[in-house]
Amino acid sequence: MTSQSILVTGGAGYIGAHTLVELVASGYTPVVLDDLSRSSMKLMDGVKQLTGKQLSFYQVDCADKTELRRVFGLHPEISAVMHFAAFKSVNESVEKPLLYFRNNIDSLLSLLEVMQEANVNRFVFSSSCTVYGQPDRIPVTEDAPFKRPESPYGATKQMGERILEDAVKAWKELKVVSLRYFNPIGAHPSGVIGELPIGVPNNLAPYITQTAIGKRSRLTVFGSDYNTPDGSCLRDFIHVVDLAVAHVAALSTIDQLPSRFEAFNLGTGVPVSVLELLNTFMRVTGVNVPYEIGPRRPGDIEKVYADPSKSNRALRWRTKLTIEDALRDAWRWEQNLAK
Ligand code: UFG
Repeated sequence: MTSQSILVTGGAGYIGAHTLVELVASGYTPVVLDDLSRSSMKLMDGVKQLTGKQLSFYQVDCADKTELRRVFGLHPEISAVMHFAAFKSVNESVEKPLLYFRNNIDSLLSLLEVMQEANVNRFVFSSSCTVYGQPDRIPVTEDAPFKRPESPYGATKQMGERILEDAVKAWKELKVVSLRYFNPIGAHPSGVIGELPIGVPNNLAPYITQTAIGKRSRLTVFGSDYNTPDGSCLRDFIHVVDLAVAHVAALSTIDQLPSRFEAFNLGTGVPVSVLELLNTFMRVTGVNVPYEIGPRRPGDIEKVYADPSKSNRALRWRTKLTIEDALRDAWRWEQNLAK
């Protein structure tokens, strides 16, 4: 068992918190940094409950280099960074593009600069399948060209990858893994940690569970006239625990990868439609979700799902959980929140 110390930015967020649990389970010692602007100590409490460990936690804005230097100074044992901290709302990014560029790009640059000063040179980046736009070929592989991003949020992920690709060319010790998430859903099977959307959820799965519990009156399915088997959009929904495990796999293989910048799709490879996800939720939970069919949501991609074969091979990782597992777990979490 290794006892490497890993700085996890955005560790109090949805994917960050699930990854903390998997890191601890694999013997790593996470040091957590989060400004709590979009996240919650509730998830850190849940992580403590699940791991039995009180992790070092710093409420720090990742763009603040003075504070970053302080954290690296206090933890000279840090050997790698996982960077989850970012704003992630597509809608909000359209309304507040400058906020998104400032936050997502500044934090990445500050972190890289301070890592270089501290001589920490392993970096795992939270990217997104949004970098592909609507790909010409699906399932999409990592070498698919980037299309013009649909949103400022998507642009920050494309720019983030570009910054990292250029950084590895100049900084010869830097090793980067960029993980392109498809659609993470679900919660820890314990129901102790899960997604905590702020306000009305934009994303499908939390909207389904909030409607099921009665917080929302009905779900709108955005579009039923797409060129897909049932007319609703196709996505690649991946259980957040499978996603978290992939981060640990990335960390343990980063030194063996063929090049110092590698991008990986994190998805199941199985397309699932919006209506299928909704019907699966109702089937596995036995709870009715009132819904209506509405117009298309502007900016939505018709269909996108991963070819995960590069990740399966190089990270020696594959998804183990199903959408049924994810929806049951998300429902357990939603019910626990209501208690
Ligand atoms: N949807 C509904 N009703 C809702 C919410 C969503 O029908 O109330 C539909 C959407 O129209 C879409 C699908 O469910 O067809 C999935 O929508 P999400 O908002 O859950 O996810 P997206 O695929 O739009 O977005 C996700 C991430 C983004 C990322 C993007 C890349 O949330 O961070 O994938 O494609 F940029």
